[in-house]
Amino acid sequence: MSEAFKNELSKAIRIQTPVTEQMEHSTPLFLTSSFCFTEAEDMRAAFADENDDNIYSRFSNPNVNEFIKKMCALEECEAGFATATGMAAVFASMFALLKQGDHLLCCSSVFGSTYTLVTKYLPRYGIQCTLVPANNNEAWEKAVQANTKMVYLETPTNPQLEIIDLEWAGRFCRQHNLILNVDNCFATPLLQKPVHYGAHLILHSATKWLDGQGRVLGGVIVGKADLIKEIYLFCRNTGPALSPFNAWLISKSLETLDVRMQRHCDNAMKVALALKNHNNVAWVKYPFLQDHPQYSIAKKQMKAGGGIVCFEIKGGIEKGSAFLNKLQMLSITANLGDTRSIASHPASTTHSKLSQEERQSVGITPGLIRISVGLEYADDIINDLQQALND
Ligand SMILES: Cc1ncc(COP(=O)(O)O)c(C=O)c1O
Repeated sequence: MSEAFKNELSKAIRIQTPVTEQMEHSTPLFLTSSFCFTEAEDMRAAFADENDDNIYSRFSNPNVNEFIKKMCALEECEAGFATATGMAAVFASMFALLKQGDHLLCCSSVFGSTYTLVTKYLPRYGIQCTLVPANNNEAWEKAVQANTKMVYLETPTNPQLEIIDLEWAGRFCRQHNLILNVDNCFATPLLQKPVHYGAHLILHSATKWLDGQGRVLGGVIVGKADLIKEIYLFCRNTGPALSPFNAWLISKSLETLDVRMQRHCDNAMKVALALKNHNNVAWVKYPFLQDHPQYSIAKKQMKAGGGIVCFEIKGGIEKGSAFLNKLQMLSITANLGDTRSIASHPASTTHSKLSQEERQSVGITPGLIRISVGLEYADDIINDLQQALND
């Protein structure tokens, strides 16, 4: 890597595939399934892992490699592998490293598909999982078993915005010799560095803020080289590779991640403060609001509060749906982490199939609204939310 740029923000902009004879400025797209060798001996050496030559795009590709290198720089990690979606990253990080008879400790408030993966599919392969409430340290201690191998957590969690103390989690995993696997999607490496607290693996849905423009799906896992090697071999043989086109887009997006996150966070703080004063809002949750239950932990481990604000609309499910219908600018869609602000009402959409008790147990209250605060002018976002909240 060039010595001309040492700062991670410069690396996110300047790391680039070697320039071709065309002397391009921006990285070209390497849309190719496989790579050629001039000699049979070169191909043998590549297959024998004697060099890093690209062989086949299910294993590696220049666009994908560029994206991984930038993510390793941003997360300060040794190695990485990029996947087709965030869920493929979650799946691979578990299935590559756990085997029949192993036990996983997972934070009970995790993204819905992760919840399904650890409660429905892992047990089918003889891997047991215990779900533990985010901030109950005693419960985590009690849940450890002789066969526990990994701790999996998200912070902030989706959609409840709970914050887990990474310093505590790192210490806990060191004491019990466990792999600490952190979904850093909501914070991004710009706001929070799990590796500083001892995380062994850090993963992302690149579909969210890393792309940041709602265009493509992607995922990535970075971390300790020996663990990533296992994940790479698992993925090389099972096939959840990131497409070169998606990698090309997301890698380019990383060049603006820092400025985008600053604006997302500034706008989100303004939205959180404005919503607090509205008569039809019961409560507002944002990691950098002083009344957030884990405010001091958020301040300790995050540079800013992130791009998601949650609030409870008075009047429950009915008012939640009515609120969505009255929005004029914000989009009603399932994604988050876009330049465009997005509103969602989990109780009537993503979590509608659960009973009220089940929803309550995972923190989905009837009037919970999640706002992914975009990059529009803050007053326009606030005005739209306020007019939709008004009776
Ligand atoms: C925190 C978190 N992790 C993982 C995922 C899964 O990502 P993808 O949709 O890219 O598979 C999501 C998707 O919303 C998410 O919010």
